[in-house]
This record gives sequence, structure tokens and C-alpha cells, in this order.
Amino acid sequence: MSHRIAVIGGDYIGPEVVAEGLKVMEAAGVDIDATHFDLGAQRWQRDGEVLSDETMDELRGYDAIYLGAVGGVPGEIPGGLIERGILLKMRFEFDQYINLRPFLLTEQGIDFQVIRENTEGTYAGEGGFLRKGTPHEIATQGSVNTRHGVERCIRYAFELARSRDRKKLTLVHKTNVLTFAGDLWQRAFDEVAAEYPDVETGYQHIDAACIHFVNDPQQYSVIVTDNLFGDILTDLGGAISGGIGLASSANMNPDRTAPSMFEPVHGSAPDIAGQGKANPTAAILSAAIMLEFLGEADAATRIRAACEDVPAGSTTDIGDEIARRVS
Ligand code: IPM
Ligand code: MN
Repeated sequence: MSHRIAVIGGDYIGPEVVAEGLKVMEAAGVDIDATHFDLGAQRWQRDGEVLSDETMDELRGYDAIYLGAVGGVPGEIPGGLIERGILLKMRFEFDQYINLRPFLLTEQGIDFQVIRENTEGTYAGEGGFLRKGTPHEIATQGSVNTRHGVERCIRYAFELARSRDRKKLTLVHKTNVLTFAGDLWQRAFDEVAAEYPDVETGYQHIDAACIHFVNDPQQYSVIVTDNLFGDILTDLGGAISGGIGLASSANMNPDRTAPSMFEPVHGSAPDIAGQGKANPTAAILSAAIMLEFLGEADAATRIRAACEDVPAGSTTDIGDEIARRVS
């Protein structure tokens, strides 16, 4: 079966790593019908388009979106414009409420996945200014937590934990201080937990979790957390498990009412673009998650196995070697 994929290479190293991902999927024998979309900071600099509603309507028709990285050179582009206008727009409007980020470093016994709520929290944009620009100005930034949004995310994490060898789920939050949002998360977690007696549960405050990530990451199987904590914790997760060059991610709409989006955690890295220095492994592993989501479990497993010890070399050397291993 052919999969219709919208490919957004994006900026700088984005298209370089995505090309290797496409190469590897082809070598794995998966039939990808790719349509390239020219979006990102450089597109905006050329003609002012970030991501129009017409393009969103087009993207809606694809089986999945495969994205490299978007973002420009600091100072050349208004901060956050591209991130919010492309990444957050897709996450919110396509209801990609699960952000899944796996971390695997077999030789150190690290093998866990973070489920980050991807449509709410402080990312929802609640807040505003009062008396902006005056000495008495006020800025507020709220955190939106709906019972529906929190519960569906927690339920997804329990299902994932149940499917793994180690049936363990850790909730990470800051319930001692964020007493409203934390209370909702904790109650929803406890109530859903009652439906999964086979899954061991635990709770850690976000600050303590940062220490455990460094000192004892082997304790985790699945972690569930809110949008902002998940953003921060998954950068740390990348740093402790082989570096950001290996960190893959998926923005998923498990209900499949709109396409899901698969992208490496790293950014567009303008400083190393065009030099063949970017490690395409994170993009290739993101393609593996996409293939699994599309029902190509066998190809996904082969790609993951081929990435277990990443070969050295340039971007294309690494892509070529992984492609050779999967073919
Ligand atoms: C990520 C990124 C994004 C986020 C930015 C670019 C908006 O850091 O995917 O982790 O904060 O979610
Ligand atoms: Mn991030």
C-alpha cells in the first residue's frame, strides 16, 4: 500500500536530514508517495507565507506529515513566528494531542518514552498584557488544563505502558506548587490508574525528575507530563541518551481525525547547514515512528535495529549505511 506523505523539509539542515529519512524508508521497501511543501523561515523571508489556511486544508488530506526542522537565523526573523505559526498551528489544529519521544541507549539500560500533552498547558496561549510598555505593565501567561485533554493523554500513556515489557507509568508534574493544574492531573491519573491494575504507577515532581534523569534514568518505562514540563524534560532526555542528534518525536492524533506529524527534536541548525555535518538519525528514527503509526511495523523495527549503533560519517554517509542495513 502506498502512503501519501506531506514532506516539509523546512530550513537549513531540515531538508538534509529528511532526504536521508526518505532514502531509508525507500530502502526498507515502503511505498511512500511524497509531496514536498516549501515552508519555514526561508519561505517566510521570501514571500511572507508562514502556513496559510489553504495549505493547512491541503495538508489535512495526507496520511502523515514528515518534517525536518523549521526556524531561521536569530535576528533575521521575529522570534517564535515560525515555531508557533507552523509547529504549534499543526499540533493544535490537527489535534495532535500526544507528543511521543522515545529514549533508548541500550548499553546503559536506558529505554523509556515520554508522553507529553501537546495541545494545552502554557502553550495554549492564554494570557495577555495590561499597560504594556509602561512601568506598571503586567504580563500573565496561564496554563490551560481540561479534564478531557488531560485524561485522554493519561489514558494513552497507560495503554502504552501496558503494551511494554515493563508496565510502569510515572506522572511528572509540580503538584506541590501548581495546586490547580496539578490537582486535576493527579486526580485524572489516579482515576485512570484504577482501570490499569497491571501497570505500576509512580509520581515525581519535575525538579526531582531532572535529578533522576541524570542519576537513574533506568528506572523509567513511560512518563506522562504536561506540555511545558515535557518540552524541557525531553531535551534532557536527549542529552542523557546519546544526544539531540538521536532524539526522535511524533506529534500524534491517535483518533486519526487529522494527520499526525513526525519530526526530530532538534532544530534547523543554520550554523552547520550545507556541510554534511547533521546527524540524520533523529529524522530517520522519527520516520520509523511514522511507519509504525501507518501500519508498517516490520519496516519500523528494521529501521530501529539499523540505528542501534549509529555509523560515523557525513549526513549522507550515515543515511547510506542505515539504508544499506535495512534493505
Ligand atoms: C519542541 C520545540 C518546540 C516546543 C518549539 C520550537 C515551539 O522546542 O518541539 O520541543 O516548544 O514544543
Ligand atoms: Mn523543545
